[in-house]
Amino acid sequence: MSHALHLPDGFVWGAATAAFQIEGATHTDGRTDSIWDTFCRVPGAVAHGDTGEVACDHYHRWPQDLDLLSELGLGAYRLSTAWPRVLPEPGRVEQRGLDFYSRLVDGLLERGITPWVTLYHWDLPQWMEDRGGWTSRDVVGHFADYTTAVHGALGDRVKHWITLNEPWCSAFLGYKGGQHAPGRQEPQAAVSAVHHLLLAHGAAVRVLRTDPTATVGITLNMTVADPADPGSAEDAAAAYRVDGQQNRVFAEPLFTGEYPQDVVEAFASAGTHLPVQDGDLEAIAAPLDFLGLNYYQGCAISARPAPPDELMPGEPPLARATSVPAVGQGEAYTVSRGLPRTAMDWEVQPDGLRRLLERVHTDWTGPAGIPLYVTENGAAFDDVVGPDGQVDDVERTAYIAEHLAAVGRAVEAGADVRGYFAWSLLDNFEWAYGYEKRFGIVHVDFETLARTPKASARLFASAAATGTVPLADAVRA
Ligand code: FCB
Repeated sequence: MSHALHLPDGFVWGAATAAFQIEGATHTDGRTDSIWDTFCRVPGAVAHGDTGEVACDHYHRWPQDLDLLSELGLGAYRLSTAWPRVLPEPGRVEQRGLDFYSRLVDGLLERGITPWVTLYHWDLPQWMEDRGGWTSRDVVGHFADYTTAVHGALGDRVKHWITLNEPWCSAFLGYKGGQHAPGRQEPQAAVSAVHHLLLAHGAAVRVLRTDPTATVGITLNMTVADPADPGSAEDAAAAYRVDGQQNRVFAEPLFTGEYPQDVVEAFASAGTHLPVQDGDLEAIAAPLDFLGLNYYQGCAISARPAPPDELMPGEPPLARATSVPAVGQGEAYTVSRGLPRTAMDWEVQPDGLRRLLERVHTDWTGPAGIPLYVTENGAAFDDVVGPDGQVDDVERTAYIAEHLAAVGRAVEAGADVRGYFAWSLLDNFEWAYGYEKRFGIVHVDFETLARTPKASARLFASAAATGTVPLADAVRA
């Protein structure tokens, strides 16, 4: 096939990373533990006992990493700042932490790359978790202070801000499922975390709005929950419940100032409640300039457990991702519908991205008059380093091309999507999976820390250079 799909002029082409996943240097320049440093010390919590202590050593090798972005011709880079670098103790700002990000921002601007800064990509300071973490309302004021410190140091040069990355993961994987730090499994804690995350977001927006030049958004990992059996009313109801606790419980308060009633009732059925106080919903619904979406996989939902080969009683923690963590909603399981799967065992379903973008544009961002950005998309596959040291990652290359094409189709259908960030620039610390799962378009040898762009990086660079997406069958050919 020779035809190709064009993305609009001005479309933002970028790559994304997160502080804990790449920086290393976890105790350098005054940084203290985050909840992920602590979680890595829990036996069995992270594959192979991997930690973030070295990661990609980006803290020291950042100039080389920024050069990679330049060589790929990418115009934007989404990074996150580490809260425990900036505030290693409550109330004490660490200038050396801020200076690191300031150098990074200067390095990006010198290379003509626009920084997009995420304030919270999961590395809560351990001192905050010791005070209740996201379950405590006090987190809101601390997050506002942190936002003030980061904005104060970078706001003259950083114009694109993302308050939170994927609050669903922070709340439901961190406090209910327990697969993520801090590894708690307490339904009320998860529900409290939902509200305090959103409230902290609102507080950060208020801080950032003191700067009229700031462009402010949040990144959600929304899902397209399809009933596994389209003819089954039970599966449709289960899919709607998943939509409630993964999508609507975040999008509705952000865009309409109200929590969805069915989700409030589901929480109540488990004896839990959202700790809403007067004025909270107004704070959460502060107008945004854009919404970021992270999309990785399709999602077929069944009301019944998956076949035993997919979901075992007494299964190890990593496999628990197949039952959808939720509070009081009745069971819901993700099941296989025979589509290709990545090394994460995630279903490859590019059309889900098109459907998601169109749905979110129609239901929330279109009415609010704001654009969407795909702030993460990518895939882990078991890469093979060839004898020449190169990685010909055919599957990841096809994955990225197919998903870019899905973005193009959503744009053609009228969704206001203005950018795409590949996850990730580098192979990195993939949370509970440690270094085993590689999402990078650039390969990292974790012995030597050498970086080598993969074939997918070349495809992505050429798409960014031309604004054109080669259609997937052309890529695979
Ligand atoms: C997302 C996270 C990101 C990375 C990818 C694979 O949920 O935001 O840090 O782990 O998944």
